[in-house]
Amino acid sequence: MKISVIGAGNVGATCADVCAQKELANEVVLLDIKENFAEGKALDMWQTAPINLFDSRTIGVTNDYARTADSEVVVITSGLPRKPGMSRDDLIQTNAKIVKSVTEQVIKYSPNAIIVVVANPLDVMTYTAFLTAKIDPNRVFGMAGILDTARYRAFLATELNVSPKDIQAVLMGGHGDTMVPLPRYTTVGGIPVTEMIDEERLEAIIQRTKVGGGEIVKLLGTSAWYAPGAAAAQMVEAIVRDQKRIFPVCAWLQGEYGMKDIYLGVPVKLGKAGIEEIIELQLNEKERAELEGSATAVREVMGVLDQMDLF
Ligand code: NAI
Ligand code: 2OP
Repeated sequence: MKISVIGAGNVGATCADVCAQKELANEVVLLDIKENFAEGKALDMWQTAPINLFDSRTIGVTNDYARTADSEVVVITSGLPRKPGMSRDDLIQTNAKIVKSVTEQVIKYSPNAIIVVVANPLDVMTYTAFLTAKIDPNRVFGMAGILDTARYRAFLATELNVSPKDIQAVLMGGHGDTMVPLPRYTTVGGIPVTEMIDEERLEAIIQRTKVGGGEIVKLLGTSAWYAPGAAAAQMVEAIVRDQKRIFPVCAWLQGEYGMKDIYLGVPVKLGKAGIEEIIELQLNEKERAELEGSATAVREVMGVLDQMDLF
């Protein structure tokens, strides 16, 4: 069984490394356009195998899609990351062309693959991959919600001085500053979060989560990779191990939450078939309004894609 990761940069290499360490496949293929870059990273990863004790072969290739043939899952991370002062949406002109050309090759060699998109602007890059691959949308979806909820959960764990393992949360909407963390669906060891923290401190954590990506960009000069790579690998794990896990995932909506023809973050069940179910929460008026606001922001970026005339 094979997993391929396109783009051997910060996020792609981290994702491939986690997939290999968890032995999610016999082969983890890392592909990049930059000559010898993926080869070098994959070789370095393979040399950790005797130390970290895993068997998955890590293989690096320069643009050789034949080596990705018959992958069960393909993760697309190829694309420019944000620099300070940029929003994720500023990346669309370059990244839409990259994601389109990469997806054409991916689907040519792995027509039955499940595609997990990571490149930004996430919701619209997932839409780009869907328009290109022309396969069931349950097999093309995007990673953002696991990362965004992980940030929210990590901030809460620090604030409450509890284990992050005990914090469960749902967050919906697009992967941008309009994302919608949902305190009503946040628990700490099964206890509603609102019983553990006052409103003001919780609101500060929600606001920090919404701009959590930007906080790292300011610190590093580029965007995050440890948490994004681990989050994408967690989705791969749920698929290849048929775990039926419930995660917030950027999914194609066809009437769910009253929305149609849009990729947006919603809770889903992930397993061997990809998205096996979209879970519809009973949102209150405020939550619904925030979700609609987030969808409006995503539709604006979809409009930019339309103007690019790629499809
Ligand atoms: P990076 O610059 O470290 O890596 C990107 C890699 O893609 C580079 O090695 C580059 O050579 C490669 N690449 C570019 N064009 C390619 C092509 N046509 N074919 C194959 N490879 C190609 O960037 P990083 O930090 O890994 O981020 C990657 C993408 O993921 C960015 O768009 C970033 O904004 C996004 N991202 C998304 C997150 C999410 O939550 N969805 C979180 C973090 C990053
Ligand atoms: C992040 O949230 C920039 O999407 C990237 O870290």
